[in-house]
Amino acid sequence: MIEKRLYIKTYGCQMNMYDSGRMADILKPLGYSLIETPEGADLVILNTCHIREKADEKVYSDLGRIRPYKDDKMVLAVAGCVAQAEGAEIMRRAPYVDLVFGPQTYHRLPEMIARAHRSQDKKSGPGRGILDVEFPLESKFDHLPQEHTGVGPSAFLAIQEGCDKFCTFCVVPYTRGAEYSRPVQAIYEEASRLVDCGVKEITLLGQNVNAYHGVLGANECGLGKLMEHLSSIKGLERLRYMTSHPRDMDEELMIAHRDVPQVMPFLHLPIQSGSNQILETMNRKHTREHYLKIIEKLRTYRPDIALSSDFIVGFPGETDQDFEDTLNLVSEIGYAQAYSFKYSPRLGTPGAVMDNQVPEDVKSDRLERLQDLLNVQQQTFNELSVGKTLPVLLDRKGKKEGQLLGKTPYLQSVYVESSPRLFGECVNVTIEKAFANSVTGTILTQESVLK
Ligand code: SAH
Ligand code: SF4
Ligand code: F3S
Repeated sequence: MIEKRLYIKTYGCQMNMYDSGRMADILKPLGYSLIETPEGADLVILNTCHIREKADEKVYSDLGRIRPYKDDKMVLAVAGCVAQAEGAEIMRRAPYVDLVFGPQTYHRLPEMIARAHRSQDKKSGPGRGILDVEFPLESKFDHLPQEHTGVGPSAFLAIQEGCDKFCTFCVVPYTRGAEYSRPVQAIYEEASRLVDCGVKEITLLGQNVNAYHGVLGANECGLGKLMEHLSSIKGLERLRYMTSHPRDMDEELMIAHRDVPQVMPFLHLPIQSGSNQILETMNRKHTREHYLKIIEKLRTYRPDIALSSDFIVGFPGETDQDFEDTLNLVSEIGYAQAYSFKYSPRLGTPGAVMDNQVPEDVKSDRLERLQDLLNVQQQTFNELSVGKTLPVLLDRKGKKEGQLLGKTPYLQSVYVESSPRLFGECVNVTIEKAFANSVTGTILTQESVLK
């Protein structure tokens, strides 16, 4: 088999990272191995994100940068959510792109590449690109390989995809399609294979991961039950999940945080805004009070649970008072970390054509104030862990020699001095110093705590 070089650049969310990994898995039997730069690659895939305007523009500037490296043998592909949303536009603006395919058709990559080579051989000139942005009836998951290449101690596993919620700001229902849950058995098998490859922590992924619904035996199986089921896999030490929607936070899932030891005490639960008026125009279909109730309940089951959220500032019609309501919600809850964005109008979504768009300078000002508050909360959360001894999964190599990076149960990044042999182990670390985005500490035991 001829060795071929593959370069993949991933933009956007964890689901895209998972998809990129699976593309590499599909291409491995064809002789492709990953390289770090597009230069000299036989196949370049840009796995794109459409969520905000900036993410979108990046694709065209990156295409322009890669173009000079493109020779006769290089196949250039655009995948992911921009491909799904504006595939035809990409082929018009960048006719040198060979393949454009969406998130639901990448299992067809081998045949698409073969077709691209055939049309290259014929030298049929510009406009010969292949576009595949179908939402096929059969699920791509049924066609993905059983092999997993290049997985580390912590891995992603997609269990649910797509979204039927149609928040008025969001493109995801259009780019990822309708909600779909994979069968329990397929998930269990994939998780077991990952653990066989040395994975200790699995993050279950979905655009609405807690809307997951499967069948186990004769019973319905939601995310809480699924995690309990997966916890029987020997060697699987940690379970996480994202992203959850407040409307789908059921009792069983909350109780899993108390009863299933592998389920980590961390929850990313986006609220977007603290104002009921804005939540309504966003079509979130939940209120501030509903969200606060969930948090209160969760804290009764798991008092130490660390919380995270996404926020959008400057959604159409957001008044100073609406924004103050977001700030006071943040103060009331106390987040361990969070993401916040300026509203970015997306073509084809209802928000883009709403009256009362908020001026850019107001959005910037609000974002700065919100981020200042969130940064203080994150720093405070990190400071509160100083002096504690926490189990840390050492899942990355540090930049410095003799340094490893890991994660606490609360998803804080930890830097430690360590022998490289502890890479992939879960060790007890006494936290010594807190920073804005990380903590440092000393390993207490040199042995894995969970063996
Ligand atoms: N499914 C997840 C989030 C998907 S998108 C959920 O329901 O929460 C990730 C985050 O991007 C969103 O939570 C939102 O905060 C942000 N986002 C989505 N569309 C956006 C837009 N048009 N402008 C700014 N931020 C946006
Ligand atoms: Fe987008 Fe809303 Fe669906 Fe999340 S729930 S993916 S924000 S439409
Ligand atoms: Fe972006 Fe698509 Fe993920 S739009 S955030 S890559 S689902």
